[in-house]
Amino acid sequence: MASQEEVFKKLVSHCKEYGFVFPSSEIYDGLGAVYDYGQNGVELKNNIKRYWWEAMTKLHENIVGIDAAIFMHPTTWKASGHVDAFNDPLIDNKDSKKRYRADVLIEEAIEKYNEKVEKEVEKARKRFKDSFNEEQFRTTSPKVLELIEKRDALHKRFQDVMNSPNGIDLEAMKQIIIDEEIVDPISGTRNWTDVRQFNLMFSTEMGSTADGAMKIYLRPETAQGIFVNYLNVQKTGRMKLPFGIAQIGKAFRNEIVARQFIFRMREFEQMEMQFFIKPGTELDWFAKWKKTRRSWHEALGFGSHMYRFHDHDKLAHYANAATDIEFNMPFGFKEVEGIHSRTNFDLSQHAKYSGKKIEYFDPETNESYTPYVIETSIGVDRMFLSVMAASYKEEVVNEKGDTRVVLSLPPALAPVKVAILPLVNKDGLPEKAEEILKELRYDYNCQIEVKDSIGKRYRRQDAIGTPYCITVDGQTIEDNTVTLRYRDTMQQERVAIADLHKIIGDSVNISSLLRKIEND
Ligand code: GAP
Repeated sequence: MASQEEVFKKLVSHCKEYGFVFPSSEIYDGLGAVYDYGQNGVELKNNIKRYWWEAMTKLHENIVGIDAAIFMHPTTWKASGHVDAFNDPLIDNKDSKKRYRADVLIEEAIEKYNEKVEKEVEKARKRFKDSFNEEQFRTTSPKVLELIEKRDALHKRFQDVMNSPNGIDLEAMKQIIIDEEIVDPISGTRNWTDVRQFNLMFSTEMGSTADGAMKIYLRPETAQGIFVNYLNVQKTGRMKLPFGIAQIGKAFRNEIVARQFIFRMREFEQMEMQFFIKPGTELDWFAKWKKTRRSWHEALGFGSHMYRFHDHDKLAHYANAATDIEFNMPFGFKEVEGIHSRTNFDLSQHAKYSGKKIEYFDPETNESYTPYVIETSIGVDRMFLSVMAASYKEEVVNEKGDTRVVLSLPPALAPVKVAILPLVNKDGLPEKAEEILKELRYDYNCQIEVKDSIGKRYRRQDAIGTPYCITVDGQTIEDNTVTLRYRDTMQQERVAIADLHKIIGDSVNISSLLRKIEND
């Protein structure tokens, strides 16, 4: 069986080969952690966005959308805390001149202890064969116990450094790197600089320098565009609490450790929803949104075992509850979405910095207050990666051992819903295919393919996840029937063109997913 790393490599090359994701400006050797979506990728991405947008705005009468600008007044980022605190602790190796996230180096050192434990277990399994008692070995082997003790001590020290009362203790962080004898993977040396904080926001200038240009930032999250528009939307929409504002848009972060393909990018897209509520009701709403978002994910049909909900024990100073929804990626369970109970932190900060009153007048109690907020925040690109990873399959298709690569995408997310394939490129078949296309294209994204053998065309459509292939042959001309092939089972049946709508029906539309979501 292929290792997870090999599967991931195959997935990345599949994304490129079939027009899903390309490295940005590839002819110039690409740009680190920036990617372009190709002809199939953009369709899949748009379908993911549509699924999220419609789940938010169609299924909730009290959620409306906005589309705020990427550039915002620079004070926004002072108020939100991003100018002062949106930092990563970085360290350079003086020999390789490479820069690393110091916290990631330490996390990797912690993980190494886990790997060593697993190695010990595997060694013992081989040595003791059938008589091996794994649980007993894990709890009594002196070597394993020593590794676990060291790991836990390091973990505790790391937590203390990260949560030190005046922000991350950078000196103590460097000391851990020295004590743990962490070496640079490139130079192999321990010749490290001090650890420094590095702000993740990209900045640029607005206006010409002669006129006194203003330093502005590319937004690192879309949420602040929602907070600064809270009053506009509440007033113009005459919104009553509780209500939500949803937004999809680009965000930018100068990530230092940019690895794992589109998992950590410097330019990416977020789908965020801020739900404004009465103070004191936040924990109920937090629980409700956790449930609703779980259902949104699970409606895709990958199985509940693919998700993990990770509640944060240590919270940001403005939050009183937070959960990550993690997905089983080819490189382990990783965060795809965050659900945060953010209290009234952001609105209060914007009120303080702008001098404007940002409140809600509650007609039921006749009081004014600053609403609390539950935020659901999901990365489009991480969602895209999780869908691709869960759908990519290599299958043996017959006794001869022939294989196929199939993307078993949820049909509603597939870039192409129906491929129309004339068996030969003559005898009136292409024209008939064109006729069928004209009939179906108003409801489904269709594609006609004429080149290569029918088998090759089926494989190409499998590889991009097309749920239905229609083959047009000589009989079609005579009796208006076609062969309909199903992607997942590869079964084929003869059906009348007139029945195609009925058979394909709603199964490939976003509404089929929306119906599966449990909403209170
Ligand atoms: N407004 C809250 C917020 O931005 P976050 O946990 O920093 O919270 C939310 O980001 C989501 O955005 C993450 O769960 C992830 O899916 C996505 N995301 C964050 N940084 C990313 C990056 N560098 N590349 C791709 N997606 C990213």
